[in-house]
Amino acid sequence: MPDVRAMIAIGLRGQFGLGGKLPWEGDKRPEFREDVARFFEMTRGHVLLMGPKTYASVPSFAFTDRTIVTIRSQQTPEEALAPFQDRVVYIGGGPSVYAAYARLIRHWDINRLPYDGEADRWFDPAWLVAG
Ligand SMILES: NC(=O)c1ccc[n+]([C@@H]2O[C@H](COP(=O)([O-])OP(=O)(O)OC[C@H]3O[C@@H](n4cnc5c(N)ncnc54)[C@H](OP(=O)(O)O)[C@@H]3O)[C@@H](O)[C@H]2O)c1
Repeated sequence: MPDVRAMIAIGLRGQFGLGGKLPWEGDKRPEFREDVARFFEMTRGHVLLMGPKTYASVPSFAFTDRTIVTIRSQQTPEEALAPFQDRVVYIGGGPSVYAAYARLIRHWDINRLPYDGEADRWFDPAWLVAG
């Protein structure tokens, strides 16, 4: 089994996504810039399995030094992870993706950012204890 991880950022009330982007996209305050920089630093050299909408939001530079693969609902998580047995794999996506993959994620890295605006995707704490 790969080392399956999640590295996510949430707003003060669990805001997670908005219009296909991060709700705080473009916020230049240090906490927000450092969060994005840390994501790309930590995932370098590893595998990112992403839901299709999340995949579409990845900047092109990110494809040069990590393996990024789209996951679809027709696959079981075990099928999607099978090619990456010895790798560190980060799962990225919205609530439907985390609902399916949470039971396999051992390492959660959650950064709570000082954002209190709107969202159309929300973090669900139940992911952390999914069995
Ligand atoms: N705050 C954060 O850290 C963070 C991290 C990641 C994403 N986000 C945000 O989340 C939003 C994107 O989430 P989203 O839900 O709109 O899109 P998404 O997760 O990228 O894509 C959703 C699609 O994933 C597919 N999918 C793949 N495997 C699945 C499975 N096992 N079970 C169910 N569906 C599966 C389904 O499409 P098919 O049925 O067509 O395969 C589903 O419709 C964006 O706003 C993004 O910025 C935030």
